[in-house]
Amino acid sequence: MKPLLESTYAIGDRAELTRIWNEHGYWFFRNVLDRDALQRLKDKFMAELKELGAIDADAAEPIWNGKPLDAVPSTFTTLHQLHAWQTFVKEAPIKAFFEEILEDELYWLPMDYYRLVAPRPRDKVELYIGNHQDGMSNYGLEFEICWIPLTDITEALGGIVLATGQHKRGWMEIIDGKAVFTKGGPIPDDCWARADYHLGDVLIFCKEMPHYGLGNRSDRFRISLDIRAARRSGPLPVAGKVLHIATDAVTIRNEVDDTVVTLTLDANTFLRGPGRPNPVPITLAEVATALPAGSDVLATRDGARAMILRPQMY
Ligand SMILES: [Fe+2]
Repeated sequence: MKPLLESTYAIGDRAELTRIWNEHGYWFFRNVLDRDALQRLKDKFMAELKELGAIDADAAEPIWNGKPLDAVPSTFTTLHQLHAWQTFVKEAPIKAFFEEILEDELYWLPMDYYRLVAPRPRDKVELYIGNHQDGMSNYGLEFEICWIPLTDITEALGGIVLATGQHKRGWMEIIDGKAVFTKGGPIPDDCWARADYHLGDVLIFCKEMPHYGLGNRSDRFRISLDIRAARRSGPLPVAGKVLHIATDAVTIRNEVDDTVVTLTLDANTFLRGPGRPNPVPITLAEVATALPAGSDVLATRDGARAMILRPQMY
């Protein structure tokens, strides 16, 4: 598989950064994120693994100690309760880096994606996550994805793979359970690219970028964080707790700008309820049960109408 292009040389050259983004759909920066902030975040992942008994108490890297993996969950409520990523993006050098590179103040979408991928035998898993675009089911939501390795991620550990340059082809469709472009042919094999990722690197890519996650066939856990940034000057979602909901409208305490917002719901609102690994489509008749008052939700709007209404991703 071909290597990702590195864009580190272009930092400070906005014209070149823009050219790379438009042509390739991503920036891959080497050794740019503050090490101390990364280490504090990594320590929280490591503490979680130690608590699970999956790595030794004195381990500095997430090397599996051979204990059964059955107790390792697919979600990490401790990291959610600690607000680990929210603390990370508030660290001054991290905040400054992302605001400079994305040229705006940022609103980070309320979605936890603490990736902690256990090692599995080669014959058990090729893929961790299948091919998809993060914007596929999020109509009206504007954001860039920032994928941050928290340990050295070699080919054996897997990690993210991008279909570079394929972000200009619109949205894929799900056919027989797989995401594919139905127009213009399949994604060419020579588009797929990855890298050996290291602490300090960040991969930023657009929501139209097809990507997937390789399985982990190494001797250790793969730990990474992906977070989603929206520019404050662009369209922002409505996000917060449901105050009231019925089949025709939802009222949300909007944490984005500290307001209370009522949006109408109709047959064209894309409704999703709680589900793993992703929120599941639901009907208007189900919405008040699936997303009752007190639920943390995310919505996009077209005037007073909700385009999407879904749970926040925790
Ligand atoms: Fe994704």
